[in-house]
Amino acid sequence: MPDRPVALVTGASSGIGKDLARVFARENHDLVIVARGEERLRALAGELPSTKVTVIPADLGAPGAPAEIFAACEAAGVTVDVLVNNAGFGSNGAFLDLDLEREAQMVDVNCTALLRLTHLFGKGMRARGRGKILNVGSTAGFQPGPFMATYYASKAFVVSFSEALSDELAGTGVTVTCLCPGPVATEFADRAGNARSKLFQSTKVASSAEIAEFAYQATMRGQLLAIPTLMQRLQFQSLRVAPRSVVRGIAARLNRS
Ligand SMILES: NC(=O)c1ccc[n+]([C@@H]2O[C@H](COP(=O)([O-])OP(=O)(O)OC[C@H]3O[C@@H](n4cnc5c(N)ncnc54)[C@H](OP(=O)(O)O)[C@@H]3O)[C@@H](O)[C@H]2O)c1
Repeated sequence: MPDRPVALVTGASSGIGKDLARVFARENHDLVIVARGEERLRALAGELPSTKVTVIPADLGAPGAPAEIFAACEAAGVTVDVLVNNAGFGSNGAFLDLDLEREAQMVDVNCTALLRLTHLFGKGMRARGRGKILNVGSTAGFQPGPFMATYYASKAFVVSFSEALSDELAGTGVTVTCLCPGPVATEFADRAGNARSKLFQSTKVASSAEIAEFAYQATMRGQLLAIPTLMQRLQFQSLRVAPRSVVRGIAARLNRS
């Protein structure tokens, strides 16, 4: 890695992404930060005076956004050493009762933009023989999730895609890490409309600062699946052997408000 490697963090305007940007800055990385909320991105940049921060306001739900972000980095002469695909959102309710456009946008942001950014920036990383990709999945990616069906499916994509890509890139100097946290105290639950679900009411909710720290360490180690707690790691193992109907039933109960 160069003296001051560059980390590009999507969804850096709040929550886990904002704290990840802070951790990368503290660890002597320059930053490219992306989200729709330009004012919040500029406020974050102002908080980090000794870090070179490139602010790119973008809606990752727009099909051309990843290519525009890549072009903006090229034009600025910025080489991205660490790609953090963090931006994402969820929704809560019965699929057929939810707004179709918002569900489709969720797939665009959580999956398609992640896929496009990985392709665009990953090629350069492989050619240089070094780089790190951190994809933010979720424990939701380990099972189907009634009443958050699209969100769980989108995170299953992130987990599966990250695992496969990691194998393809073995030996190239590029590592892939997939962060799979359980509930985290961010704006996510309010935006998804599930702040009152059993999942957020009854489970221990982590802070975004601790999750960002954990994710940074896992990324630096090149660890593939980064699951924060022992309970969540046990949950991951048990989900692989438990009957699917039981798994779906538990997720449905947790997701109901
Ligand atoms: N919080 C949890 O319980 C939890 C658990 C597991 C995984 N995760 C995952 O963690 C990631 C970060 O979420 P968070 O918990 O930190 O939630 P958050 O506080 O709501 O942050 C989400 C970030 O994504 C950005 N974003 C959303 N839609 C976007 C779009 N169309 N274009 C560009 N940026 C967009 C938001 O920025 P703008 O609104 O400014 O665009 C914001 O910076 C997500 O992928 C989420 O699925 C969260």
